[in-house]
Amino acid sequence: MAVKLYALLAVLMFAGVVLPIAHAQLGTLVSTITGIVPCSLGNNISLPTTNVFPNASVQLTCGGNAIATTTTNSSGGFSFVIPSLLVSPVDLISKCNILVTTPLVSCNASLPTDGNLVSPLTFVNTTVSGIVRLAAVSFAFVRGLIG
Ligand SMILES: *[C@@H]1O[C@H](CO)[C@@H](O)[C@H](O)[C@H]1NC(C)=O
Ligand SMILES: *[C@@H]1O[C@H](CO)[C@@H](O)[C@H](O)[C@H]1NC(C)=O
Ligand SMILES: *[C@@H]1O[C@H](CO)[C@@H](O)[C@H](O)[C@H]1NC(C)=O
Ligand SMILES: *[C@@H]1O[C@H](CO)[C@@H](O)[C@H](O)[C@H]1NC(C)=O
Ligand SMILES: *[C@@H]1O[C@H](CO)[C@@H](O)[C@H](O)[C@H]1NC(C)=O
Repeated sequence: MAVKLYALLAVLMFAGVVLPIAHAQLGTLVSTITGIVPCSLGNNISLPTTNVFPNASVQLTCGGNAIATTTTNSSGGFSFVIPSLLVSPVDLISKCNILVTTPLVSCNASLPTDGNLVSPLTFVNTTVSGIVRLAAVSFAFVRGLIG
């Protein structure tokens, strides 16, 4: 009987204490994605300092599916916080892109109306609290992607 009680106690302690901690840790693991969208055409535009694209709609797409959407701020900057349970950091890097859905003509009338800027995601570092930091740093113009 004593052995069974101990076993039951152990199960209850496991269920009541260990599981919530594991769940809390899993539930709070996130990746952050940051980037600056350039207002320019041409391949491999890395971190623009001038000619940024404010107020542009930006999508995180994975295997062709839009996972999250945001809008760039006045400095062309954007960020996403993606729970690892939704998309793991490994999948973000291997399967996902940042797609700018607003056409470039919106920031500069000389730029095309067709095509979109796209950037893959690259690993930056991991914070002490376990947040995986990713960035979109190489936007390239791709014609005929959407629309
Ligand atoms: C961007 O440049 C990197 C290296 O500088 C290269 O590996 C990559 O293929 C280029 N991508 C495009 C779309 O030109
Ligand atoms: C941003 O875009 C929205 C919708 O396209 C528009 O209503 C708004 O005025 C724009 N803001 C700026 C600062 O351009
Ligand atoms: C724009 O967004 C970027 C990335 O989140 C941020 O670093 C920057 O401070 C923001 N700038 C403004 C003017 O809000
Ligand atoms: C608009 O785009 C054209 C063509 O790339 C460029 O020559 C011009 O400097 C851009 N204008 C501004 C205000 O960025
Ligand atoms: C991660 O990189 C950023 C700059 O890109 C730096 O400010 C930060 O201190 C780095 N964090 C760690 C934990 O290395």
